[in-house]
Amino acid sequence: MEQRLQTILAHRGVSSRRGAGALIESGKVKVDGEVVKEKGFRIDSSKHKICVSGKVLRSEEKKHYFLFNKPKNVISTVSDTHSRKTITDFFKKINARLYPVGRLDKDTEGAIVVTNDGDLAHKLMHPSFETKKEYVATSDIFLTKEKQEKLSSGVKIDGKKTCACKIKLLRRSAKGAVYKMILHEGRKRQIKRMFEAVGAKVLELKRVKYAGLELKNLKEGEYRSLTKKEVEKLKKNCTLH
Ligand code: URA
Repeated sequence: MEQRLQTILAHRGVSSRRGAGALIESGKVKVDGEVVKEKGFRIDSSKHKICVSGKVLRSEEKKHYFLFNKPKNVISTVSDTHSRKTITDFFKKINARLYPVGRLDKDTEGAIVVTNDGDLAHKLMHPSFETKKEYVATSDIFLTKEKQEKLSSGVKIDGKKTCACKIKLLRRSAKGAVYKMILHEGRKRQIKRMFEAVGAKVLELKRVKYAGLELKNLKEGEYRSLTKKEVEKLKKNCTLH
């Protein structure tokens, strides 16, 4: 089957789709000994030899899919220039080039998918697929009905209104109140900035559900493999839009 060169590299876990595009454009990718600088160049990878930075591309890697409960103070990246703890530190036993799908802030805990399936990761992160995310946010104040309505209908952050979302009071707390938030967007520090827009501060943030995958009794720092059915569902959801 013919595919775009960029897609083949991303599928094989060489890098993200964007990273693969950059590799191709920089002339580091050869097909049958010839440099190809066109990201959209189509080939059947079973019939041609692809080299990246002088190394022959390995045959298709086994795909891994995990749901990880990220603890606080862990960075949602593969590596960190400041030697801080990253998600990769928890997956040392798995012999594959894994990366997290999207990001959670350092002080946010909860559900994050970790995989070496670049294609699925790219789709889940793409705004057009509107992946559903559910959070539990502890606010320093109780939000009036008006403030809750403002949040659910959209507030401006960086000059752009956030999409409609759901907010529900779970309980009052000593510190303020705890809310459930359901979003289909994933902008940087989105929930914290949304609360700031209505004069509140998020004290604690936990993502309890991502794309239908629930943490349930997965403890902090633990991960589990997704079932075949869960992976199929994720893939299906990403093709329906
Ligand atoms: N919103 C935030 O503010 N932070 C996160 O980590 C995720 C969503």
